[in-house]
Amino acid sequence: MLENFANIQTAAYLFASILFILSLGGLSSQESAKRGVLYGIVGMIIAILATILDTNVQGHLYILIAVAIASVIGIIMARRVEMTAMPQLVAILHSFVGLAAVLVGYGSYHDGADTVHLIEVFVGVFIGAITFTGSIIAWGKLDGKIRSKPLLYPGRHAVNIMLVIISVILGVLFVQAPGTEGLIYLLIMTAIAFFIGVMLVMAIGGADMPVVVSMLNSYSGWAAAAAGFMLSNDLLIVTGALVGSSGAILSIIMCEAMNRSFLSVIFGGFGDTPVKGSDQVIEGEVTSITHEETAELLKNANSVVIVPGYGMAVAKAQYPIREMVDILRKEGKEVRFAIHPVAGRLPGHMNVLLAEASVPYDIVLEMDEINEDLPDTDVVMVIGANDVVNPGAQDDPSSPIYGMPVIEAWKAEKVIVMKRSMSVGYAGVENPLFYKNNTDMLYGDAKESVEKILGFLRG
Ligand code: TAP
Repeated sequence: MLENFANIQTAAYLFASILFILSLGGLSSQESAKRGVLYGIVGMIIAILATILDTNVQGHLYILIAVAIASVIGIIMARRVEMTAMPQLVAILHSFVGLAAVLVGYGSYHDGADTVHLIEVFVGVFIGAITFTGSIIAWGKLDGKIRSKPLLYPGRHAVNIMLVIISVILGVLFVQAPGTEGLIYLLIMTAIAFFIGVMLVMAIGGADMPVVVSMLNSYSGWAAAAAGFMLSNDLLIVTGALVGSSGAILSIIMCEAMNRSFLSVIFGGFGDTPVKGSDQVIEGEVTSITHEETAELLKNANSVVIVPGYGMAVAKAQYPIREMVDILRKEGKEVRFAIHPVAGRLPGHMNVLLAEASVPYDIVLEMDEINEDLPDTDVVMVIGANDVVNPGAQDDPSSPIYGMPVIEAWKAEKVIVMKRSMSVGYAGVENPLFYKNNTDMLYGDAKESVEKILGFLRG
């Protein structure tokens, strides 16, 4: 009977692992994303059942109560969260994984005294603790509760390296020390790792936050894998490794998109991220346009490119934008979307919103695919975007976003920038695009503005 269950459990774990891989595969494109999520849910249910039905597991009632309470909290959080607050939610969820690894480490400390198990505990707690505090700081920064400017102090790398060396020494002492003495080393290391987590993310500037979210995603995966080793649970090891490596790949992709060195972001503000905003003096005058004039411009255009950004998400403007696109396309105009890899506040943010509003996938293009077409475009509509269309990223070395590839909106014949004011975007820098001769500002909430333009297009 026992042996039978062990076989069933192994088969269930294997099946769940395959579902998780299929899930990740599904999430890589919009058409298959929903299916991917479904695979993930089924895989997770199978994984949880196969784990708690194990004959070694006791106290099922407590587990069920905990699962029920956690599910209610999860459902309420997921329902309440605004799409714009998603990155914060993701960051705080990563912190739970980190904390779980720390707790598993302390919980399984007495399960065995062999060296391998003790190393697993020590490394698991170390990674978990960094993930825990790092994710809390990331949550605070993304939520505006902690300043987004990088906290850089002289000699910080030396301090970090010293702390890691001290942790390694503590690890050696921990493995050799019995019982309570070992626990003291573990506690000291946990405090150090909490501190490292805080300092690593505090050192990262606002403009690099997208990479931090995916990097902490990766850390949380490794923390889960470490918990898997501590509990000798193969599925947790596989799942953790999947999350850890896909998070790392995403971080590399994001770094490439922002032209940042991966190592510099991982080690927190390595290199020379400028602390202050750009000191370039912007020339030119700001001109504005009305909704009616914008509608007129669109009627006369043959090709239109829409660049959505964080403001579109805030205004929930994707629905009227879809209607506007439908009308323009019916009139035979070529209308396409240009998506910057870090537009919005989380990877794929714009794609999700446009898919939600049923914008056809084939007119949604990545920055690299559309940049070369912009000089031949009649009108570029920048809707709630700012940093991702900032020419300073190309020609102002003092800008914090210098080097980040951007959508070259200014190369089009006419640019309309739709936002509520002249205020800066996430990176906190002025945008010379607004001052260009071929740019007009259309002030107001993005959704209201698009609805007004729609009125003129229909009428
Ligand atoms: P931002 O540069 O943040 O600019 C968004 C603009 O939207 C703001 O300047 C704001 O101007 C405008 N806005 C806000 N609410 C609006 C509304 N209701 N209607 C119209 N406009 C509104 O956005 P972006 O161009 O998408 O760039 C993204 C930035 O976020 C990058 O710096 C990126 O590094 C960072 N970031 C990205 C991620 C990921 S993974 N995508 C994660 C963290 C950070 P007004 O106030 O004048 O309206």
